Amino acid sequence: MAISNRSQLAIKQGGWIRKMFEVAIELKQRFGDDNVFDLSLGNPIVEPPQEFTGEVAKLINSPPHGYHRYMPNAGYESTRDAIAQILTQESGLGFSHDEILMTCGAAGALNVVFESILNPQDEVIILAPYFGEFTFYIENHQGIPVVSQTNESFQPDLESLADLIGPKTRAILINSPNNPSGVLYPKSTLSQIGALISKKESELGSEIFLISDEPYRRIVFDDLIYPHVFEHHHASIAIHSHSKDLAIPGERIGYIALNPKYGHKSQLMEALIFWNRSLGFVNAPAIMQNTIRALQGVSVNIQQYQDKRDLLYSELTSMGYQVTRPQGAFYMFPKSPIENDIEFVNLLQEYNVLTVPGHGFGRPGYFRISYCVDDRVLNGSLEGFQKVASEFI
Ligand SMILES: Cc1ncc(COP(=O)(O)O)c(C=O)c1O
Repeated sequence: MAISNRSQLAIKQGGWIRKMFEVAIELKQRFGDDNVFDLSLGNPIVEPPQEFTGEVAKLINSPPHGYHRYMPNAGYESTRDAIAQILTQESGLGFSHDEILMTCGAAGALNVVFESILNPQDEVIILAPYFGEFTFYIENHQGIPVVSQTNESFQPDLESLADLIGPKTRAILINSPNNPSGVLYPKSTLSQIGALISKKESELGSEIFLISDEPYRRIVFDDLIYPHVFEHHHASIAIHSHSKDLAIPGERIGYIALNPKYGHKSQLMEALIFWNRSLGFVNAPAIMQNTIRALQGVSVNIQQYQDKRDLLYSELTSMGYQVTRPQGAFYMFPKSPIENDIEFVNLLQEYNVLTVPGHGFGRPGYFRISYCVDDRVLNGSLEGFQKVASEFI
């Protein structure tokens, strides 16, 4: 056998979204691209904002001297300064470049964080429904994912969290706006989570990180303000990525921000820089660091995602689906009208509508719709949703 036992298991378990991707290819070959309504992928269909293309053009037309070379592993100081400045504005805390590390997206960032803080068998609490890759990122670094189910509206269940925090707990990983539910955790909830962690830290005599994975931080609807995590816990780490807000997931650019008030931040940053290098990322792509420096106040048109949310939410609820109204990101996570979400997703597939079962997100009984698609695809899918609804709701 060429591969390890863990690789075999991971390949077997790890593939709902990949599976749907393969089904989409097969259906498109059989029925033609226009007759397949693929709502399974979180790959933005919009083009990056003009400002992004403008920055790339500037770099190509007048490249700074030596900008394809290696750089400090944390990234360019000037880019980290620009990020520190926007975080200072948004959070009211004084950030400097010393608290920022440039990474290969949120995926790279999470791996670097876990390698830096986990001892073997340390536990990381994740809140279901969760982004399916979280379990792999934690296990990659010998950690153990521990799942806390959220409530019916996909908001954190403080009692469940309190029960799960124990001597082995090293971190709680939250993701808001959430993939797959689209819910945003309000400031009051972050404050409760922070207070709970502090209480447990003093009871257990341990240190527990609050890690906020926030690639959808700028995709927030209804004029809501994104609440930062920092003021709620001293040992807090935020992870941002431009994959979604600038619609550049193929370019692999994001960052880690440490709470300026965290007492051991220099030691932690040293470890993050070391692992960014030694896990093989070395540094985040130079061209992207040079590009996003000037784009910290820029994002794709959020209104278009909000319009798609409004259309889909109103159509699905009028068909009788039970849906928690998303407040951000570009996903919706309706309840499956039949108990078995995998069967339900298969039923939708008979109408060439592709979604992902809740099983893939640690929350069976639901299914994920990704609505970062053309209106043609969204509108085309409605007939399938309606037909299945008339049979099962
Ligand atoms: C919740 C969440 N975290 C992390 C990632 C990884 O993003 P990136 O492209 O920045 O690595 C994604 C991507 O879909 C995501 O949804």
